[in-house]
Amino acid sequence: MPQQHHAAFPALVQGLLDQPARISPMYFYDTRGSTLFEEITRLPEYYPTRTERSVMQRAGGEIAAAIGTGRTLIELGAGSCEKARLLCRLIEPARFVGVDIATDFLELAVAGLRAEFPGMEAIAVAGDLHDTVTLPEDLPRNHRLVFYPGSSIGNFDPEEALALLQRVRGLIGDDGALLIGVDLVKDSEVLQQAYDDASGITAEFNRNILVHLNRLIETDFDPLQWGHVALYDPALARIEMHLQALSDQWVRWPGGGRHFRAGERIHTENSYKHTPAGFTALLARAGFHACQVWTDPLDWFAVVLAQP
Ligand code: AVJ
Repeated sequence: MPQQHHAAFPALVQGLLDQPARISPMYFYDTRGSTLFEEITRLPEYYPTRTERSVMQRAGGEIAAAIGTGRTLIELGAGSCEKARLLCRLIEPARFVGVDIATDFLELAVAGLRAEFPGMEAIAVAGDLHDTVTLPEDLPRNHRLVFYPGSSIGNFDPEEALALLQRVRGLIGDDGALLIGVDLVKDSEVLQQAYDDASGITAEFNRNILVHLNRLIETDFDPLQWGHVALYDPALARIEMHLQALSDQWVRWPGGGRHFRAGERIHTENSYKHTPAGFTALLARAGFHACQVWTDPLDWFAVVLAQP
């Protein structure tokens, strides 16, 4: 039997062997990658973070009125809980559950929330959004609000996004709600620059996935031999990020390896953009039939409150 599959990460190794090769975007977020992503969110070209924040601020009163207080707030991909902090001030939830793959970082952030909101319970739960999220048995089932900001839904193709929204629908029950940030279709030049900034931070973020793999599965990628490619496909309404080999090269790992020709690409990320109508249609298919949509004046980003 060929020794091509790394014992602990068979899917990751299979992706490297695929034609074209691919690496899941979840591998962007080692410590360095998380820091680089934080830097991305402050870039002048990267409008999503600040635009979402401005929508939440402008529509804060309406959002708070629509949601009400005393909920069980569940944030998916909570990370630093920075956005949850703003939301907690608005809606005063009874308890907060932060869900993320990396819990050491999350535990710290949740402790910070607990300190700031003494009346609110706050816990961290390890969970992967690709799977079913398992919440504590004793978590109240009524009046749940799932918060999924940052257009993280953009990493999922429409069918996967539908499956995720259906799982969220199952989590919240009939009296729950979903508050979700969604990046919108817009001028392709604006999109292109948001994923290929002049200072090269996004390029470094993209290449860092190779550094992470070198540590994780002992590949011997030379990051300097890979160029950053970001392109917008208007037909699929998605930004694609790739790493493009700058020279012919072999990449090896314990038990395997492969050759890349100069110009060959590794697909590292899709970031889907939506229209308000398209996204509310997707929400309806997932069982959310009452939607309120708030956007910025340029209609670049939407915050959607979806209820059954
Ligand atoms: C974290 C998935 C929302 O798609 O905009 C930013 C990730 N990649 N720049 C996005 C990302 C390159 C980001 N999401």
